[in-house]
Amino acid sequence: MRFFDGLVLAIETSCDETSAAVVRGSTVLSNVIASQAEMHLKWGGIVPEAAARAHVEAILPVIRKALTGAGVNQTQGIAVTNRPGLVGALSVGVSAAKALSLAWDAPMVGVHHLEGHILSTCAGGELQFPHVCLMVSGGHTELVDVTACGHYRLIGQTLDDAAGEAFDKGARLLGLGYPGGLAIEQQAMGGNRNRYPLPRSLEGEGFDFSFSGLKTAMLRLVEREGAGISVPDAASSLQAAIVEVLADKALRALDESGHSVLTLVGGVAANTSLRQALEDGCRLRGARFIPAAPELCTDNAAMIGIAGAFRLGRGERSDWTLDVYPNAPLPGA
Ligand code: KG4
Ligand code: ZN
Repeated sequence: MRFFDGLVLAIETSCDETSAAVVRGSTVLSNVIASQAEMHLKWGGIVPEAAARAHVEAILPVIRKALTGAGVNQTQGIAVTNRPGLVGALSVGVSAAKALSLAWDAPMVGVHHLEGHILSTCAGGELQFPHVCLMVSGGHTELVDVTACGHYRLIGQTLDDAAGEAFDKGARLLGLGYPGGLAIEQQAMGGNRNRYPLPRSLEGEGFDFSFSGLKTAMLRLVEREGAGISVPDAASSLQAAIVEVLADKALRALDESGHSVLTLVGGVAANTSLRQALEDGCRLRGARFIPAAPELCTDNAAMIGIAGAFRLGRGERSDWTLDVYPNAPLPGA
């Protein structure tokens, strides 16, 4: 695999993080993230128009900070997330990328957000091919067979809610705020995972996921127990239900693929219990487990830069008509 020969400025604005990074190949020189989480907390979720306006405010200061952090004024290439994501939010990043591409006379390439997540595990080193990637975030739950950089085959995906949504909705029901993954994990530490039985939808069956039944079961549990509910026990039971299903499918997918490497990426990859379950499963199989670095789990531009450096390196260029897309299949499938 040959990366672009030069520095790449990367821009990520697909959801609620405004991020810019400077990379050289898989080496991350700077990675600046301005989160809007606090603003969206007020509404209990992401308001697309508010997200886009916050990107408009943050985009140039964040890019300036990323350039300064890398000790440069400009770069030789530009990578920008143009799909999938919130259209208004993506447009802010893509417009900034086009303006800088024109001003610097630097080639630009549009990057698929999920390709960025998949390649986040190679930051600072080499990516191990082939491997199975479990991608789990607030918007995505996907199992992908990665035969090489740019070659992705979808093994399974969620039929309804994403794993992160299951954490977030459970947290909201338990009064733990938004986003709730970390709060659930912290509460779960002192809890009994067997106290409240919750469903493990599709466990042992195929590679698709379903978390909507779990959400309904949590709602019923909270209604039934009322004020007497033990938040640590409920958080622990919920975490166990999500982690067990994720680990079951990821490890079976690894077995079926015949590969010896499993990677874990996306916001939910920060979860210690999930990391432990996959680490243990891989050890039992003599396989290697590579989770994304904690700072590259949530949305960030560094991972977009790595994917962009790969695509620019093999001669791909986007022209100035580059568009944004709310939905898009993984490239190279
Ligand atoms: O990748 P990300 O920052 O944004 C999306 O693209 O969705 O993922 C955010 C998701 C949220 O649902 C959040 O609750 C979850 O990741 N999350 C966690 C943890 N930290 C963040 N879920 C479980 N355990 C955590 N420690
Ligand atoms: Zn993401």
